[in-house]
This record gives sequence, structure tokens and C-alpha cells, in this order.
Amino acid sequence: MNNQQVWKNYEHESKVEKFYASGIDGFHDYHKGYLNFGYWTRDGMTYEEAAENLVRHAGELLGLGQGSILLDVGCGMGTQDIALFRACNPESIDALDVTWKHIERARIRALREGVGEDRIRFHHGSATKLPFPDNSFTHLLSIEAPEHFDTREKFFHEAFRVLKPGGVMVLTDYGLVRPPRNMFERGAIDFARRLWQVPKANIYENNIYQSKLEAAGFQAIAIDTIGKYTIPGYYFEHRRPESVAEIKKIRGFWKGIVGGYLIDVGVYGAYKLGLCEYLIVCAKKPII
Ligand SMILES: C[S@@+](CC[C@H](N)C(=O)[O-])C[C@H]1O[C@@H](n2cnc3c(N)ncnc32)[C@H](O)[C@@H]1O
Repeated sequence: MNNQQVWKNYEHESKVEKFYASGIDGFHDYHKGYLNFGYWTRDGMTYEEAAENLVRHAGELLGLGQGSILLDVGCGMGTQDIALFRACNPESIDALDVTWKHIERARIRALREGVGEDRIRFHHGSATKLPFPDNSFTHLLSIEAPEHFDTREKFFHEAFRVLKPGGVMVLTDYGLVRPPRNMFERGAIDFARRLWQVPKANIYENNIYQSKLEAAGFQAIAIDTIGKYTIPGYYFEHRRPESVAEIKKIRGFWKGIVGGYLIDVGVYGAYKLGLCEYLIVCAKKPII
């Protein structure tokens, strides 16, 4: 296990870490530590059920099982790794995140849940400079984190490097369905991406997403859009009075209520305008 990294102020990692670390000391077990949008495939699901459903779906797409050696990039507070460990029994999980406080929480959570460090290891680091040798993992996962990486394209090359030949990668992410049509759409995207710490270089349509994966060497690429099962569910979960009260307590009025609301409205609005989609991406590193 590695120790805390120190990001320079000008590095994008520093901005992302500040964004996610804010209010985290009050987060405790809110939403069970999950930060994903959820996969709302049944009526009446709670947020925790939807969040776990998304993780399970990603695990199934990956084909995780005994003998799998998984790298999870942007693991958040580690809840998803413990869930995958229990559900799929992989040989090991290395999970990495740029936010030190997330790694601290993940390590505490794993200890509390009785999951040994020999099977799940949490690392502080960046997706664009993965601290692992070439050909280390059979599977690689990233849930709702690639949009932040500086850049996502650099991460594709790193992911390809650390995967073994024949390795599988699954990402959940956001993409543009079409280019913005006018100044209003361009302005709204720019505003939301700045608030959410998304580099400008990561804003592009799905055909460009696919070509960047191909350029990194990936094959058998499938990019599915599942926005209708993710974006509205999360948006309306955050509008519940109980959620508003809890988020205000955790992140404060300005960051939690005002900032969070603007990001939610930005993503939901862009989705409703047919501009942005939630992606689930599967790709393989070829054997030769
Ligand atoms: C929306 S959260 C998702 C967390 C987790 N996958 C989940 O669904 O609960 C995005 C995560 O990506 C992490 N992240 C952002 N940029 C990163 C980078 N360059 N390298 C590693 N992790 C990063 C953030 O710290 C945050 O934990």
C-alpha cells in the first residue's frame, strides 16, 4: 500500500481532490459511501439498491470471478470494492483514488467489514500515472470517474498498459450525444464542467470516445447509453427533502445545496436536451 501523495496546486488532481474532500468528514455512512448515480431498473428502488445495482451490473459486464485480478480506478470510499469482492470473489482488488480522504475511509471500511489487506489494497494516486507495472491486471473498472481524469485519453493509454493481454475494461462515464447547437448550450456545458472539475479536453461525442479507445489499442469496444436508468433517478433522489437536509449538513449550503444543485441541473438538463448521455463502456486488450 502506498502513502499520501501531494498534488501541486496547478495540477488538476489537486482541484479534484479539494472538490471531493470537502465535507467528507461528515459523510460517514450516508448513501453507504457510494457516490455513483445508481442504476434504477425497478420501481421503488432506494438509492443504496440502485447504487449497488450499478456496481453489480459493471461486475457482470467485466466477467469478474475467481482468479480475477482487478484494478478499480476512482474507487471513491471503497464500498464498491467490498461489494464486488463479496459478490464475485476475485483473487485480489487494487483500488486507487486521487482523494486521500476517500482512501482513508476505504481502508477503515475494509477493516470494519473484515476484508483483509492481502486481498483488497487501497492506493492514493492518479489514473493518468498508475503506480503499477505493465500487464498487471486481468480486469479494470472505473465508475463515474473518467470524466475527471486529466486527460481521459491519457488514462486509456495507462489502462491499456497495466492490463494483461486479453484483459477487460469496463467504464461508466458521460459523453456528448451531439455537439452543442448554440451559445446557451455551449455556455451551460462549460459552466457545469468547470463546477464539476471536468477538463475541457474530456468533452466530446461518442464516436471520438471510441476512436480514442482504439488509438490506445483497445478492441471489441461497446459503448452503450443508459442515461434513462441513471440520470433521472439520481436527480430526483437529490430533490427529496431528506436528501437536501442531509447534503446541507454534510457539505454546507453553498457547496452542497447551491453547487450540487447546479451540477445536478446541468447534467439532468443536458440529458433532457439530448446533449449528454450516461455511458457504459466495455473494451478488451487484444491477446497479441
Ligand atoms: C463520482 S466519484 C465516484 C466514486 C466511486 N467510483 C463511486 O461510484 O462511489 C469520482 C471519483 O473519482 C476520483 N478521481 C477523480 N480524478 C481522479 C484521478 N485522476 N485519479 C484517480 N481518481 C480520481 C474522485 O476522487 C472520486 O472519488
